[in-house]
Amino acid sequence: MQQVKVEPYSGGCGGLVSGVDLGNLTDEEFTVVRDAFLQYGVIFFRHQQLSQEQHLALARRFGSIVINKFFPETSEYHEIAEVRKEPAQKTNIGGGWHTDHSYDEIPAMGSILVARELPSSGGDTLFCNMSAAFDGLSDGLKTTLKGLSAIHSNEHLYGEQGLYKKTDIADLLHGKDLVGKAVHPVVIEHPETGREILYVNPGHTRRFDGWSAAESKPLLDYLYSVASSAENTCRFRWEPGSVAIWDNRSTWHLAVNDYHGERRLLHRITIDGAPLKAAA
Ligand code: SIN
Repeated sequence: MQQVKVEPYSGGCGGLVSGVDLGNLTDEEFTVVRDAFLQYGVIFFRHQQLSQEQHLALARRFGSIVINKFFPETSEYHEIAEVRKEPAQKTNIGGGWHTDHSYDEIPAMGSILVARELPSSGGDTLFCNMSAAFDGLSDGLKTTLKGLSAIHSNEHLYGEQGLYKKTDIADLLHGKDLVGKAVHPVVIEHPETGREILYVNPGHTRRFDGWSAAESKPLLDYLYSVASSAENTCRFRWEPGSVAIWDNRSTWHLAVNDYHGERRLLHRITIDGAPLKAAA
């Protein structure tokens, strides 16, 4: 057996795991991978050759699979979503900071994204460490935030008047009922590590519960600017064979849209989560 190596990917965000074949993980290696996932929030792998079947098998070791109705599916498996941008398309999916499915009552636990076709340059994905983001706040602000909940929704994106309706990916919405809304604590306790995490995101958090959108905006903007500071983020450059696995409760991500005229295709499997609990 090769020696599994886990190291930080950057100072404040992400881990790099090497010495493993994700398509053939022993139970012992899977435990190392899972521990790294929990420790770093997002972990990256290079030089993998995962078939769609191996991608599915790996996801099932993390939990049950969620079908995201927005994405097209691969022709082989409806559990595998295609995150695809064609050369003629201008809009990409996930081009702003967000946490997947925070508009669901029980948001997704995480995702496994596999590179399939990459542009000649660009198309990186940024990640943000939301546990470090919370740790960096003052004790006073932490206490205030722990008393708050926030409204999350996707209506401004997927609804009748939503942003995506006005773009060249509007056809992805056709005939689908995708609108969701949920209320979550602003600071959650990670169900497995017990860490405190700032659980608001620019993509889906609309306002604090009991506050107006105008009242919420200055504090949300402050939290977003602190969270997305350079020290707290990392940028993953995809290569053929790259895989990223992220914990959706403790990270944000953003797909950089800087490769117009070229095709980019990744396969994503999303894994089911558990109800979120407020930090004490
Ligand atoms: C996403 O899952 O939001 C897309 C990430 C990416 O395309 O890099």
